[in-house]
Amino acid sequence: MSHQATAIAHSNIALIKYWGKRDEARMLPMNGSLSLTLDAFYTRTRVRFFPELGEDHVRLDGRTLEGEAARKVSRFLDRVRALKGHEWRAEVDSCNQVPTGAGLASSASAFAALAGAASAAIGLELSPRELSILARKGSGSACRSIFPGFALWQAGTDDQSSYARPVPASNLDDLVMLVVVVNSGHKGLSSREGMRRTVATSPFYPAWVEHAERDLERMRIAVLEGDFTRIGTLAESSAMRMHATMLSAEPPFCYWEGGSLLAMNLVRQLRDEGHECYFTMDAGPNVKIIAREATVPRLRAALGEHFGEEALITARPGPGLRIEDAEAPECR
Ligand code: PMV
Repeated sequence: MSHQATAIAHSNIALIKYWGKRDEARMLPMNGSLSLTLDAFYTRTRVRFFPELGEDHVRLDGRTLEGEAARKVSRFLDRVRALKGHEWRAEVDSCNQVPTGAGLASSASAFAALAGAASAAIGLELSPRELSILARKGSGSACRSIFPGFALWQAGTDDQSSYARPVPASNLDDLVMLVVVVNSGHKGLSSREGMRRTVATSPFYPAWVEHAERDLERMRIAVLEGDFTRIGTLAESSAMRMHATMLSAEPPFCYWEGGSLLAMNLVRQLRDEGHECYFTMDAGPNVKIIAREATVPRLRAALGEHFGEEALITARPGPGLRIEDAEAPECR
């Protein structure tokens, strides 16, 4: 009998951000968040458990992971082993269709795919909610990548009540996220460290939490009603408020680069000219523009002039986690 499975999960970008943990060990967030899963960025992961293997082996994009990165995967596999009651070690092969560490949420697709592949390979039959809870423990935002389209991660009060679920949407099939890759290199401060410092030192942090919960409910309704203007306005405010907590931390930090500011200004300018679009940003310098399909050619032309066509990735609502019958993933 083969103990193997391959899973694909897509990354997601939060419209209402998650920033800060209430409980680091259990990965419970301070506030709820709401995201859009995207078609353009995904991770394909194969997990093979071998009863006779001495230790886990993890390959990412064809290279063997070492040190803390490998241990993080092993600790995650320990959770899966504990759920099943097996000691088996595994070989993990993972391919990212996401520029790793560039603020394009590679950890979200990575841990969602790992949760799916590892649980299936070891013979667990988990519900989407159980998969969301499991993925959360690898990387918070991963709990949202279990689902297609819009997903809401409720903060919850304990391990079993903190998970994501799909959010009903209307008239948003033509929603697009145009990603402006300002810098695809690895980011400086991890989101984990950034969150820790912000929660511990920013005087703005309590205000962030208070507004995030209120905005989350507003966003849920805007998505339900298909109110694009409201979605964009709320998303932009959520991102700006999150970054304000970083600027006000001690010592302060900032993920923006010159190109990020240029992209944000271009979005405002295009909007003033009647091309409705909004921006959001995460723990990296890249800017994601929220728009509708009909506006994309104009946006690509305007942004392309400054950043080049190759720096622009048009992403659309993407699928949730799925298990594949494939052999080892081939990294491109
Ligand atoms: O789950 P993490 O550690 O990748 O943190 C994600 C944090 C943000 O991307 C900045 C916001 C979010 O909700 O995805």
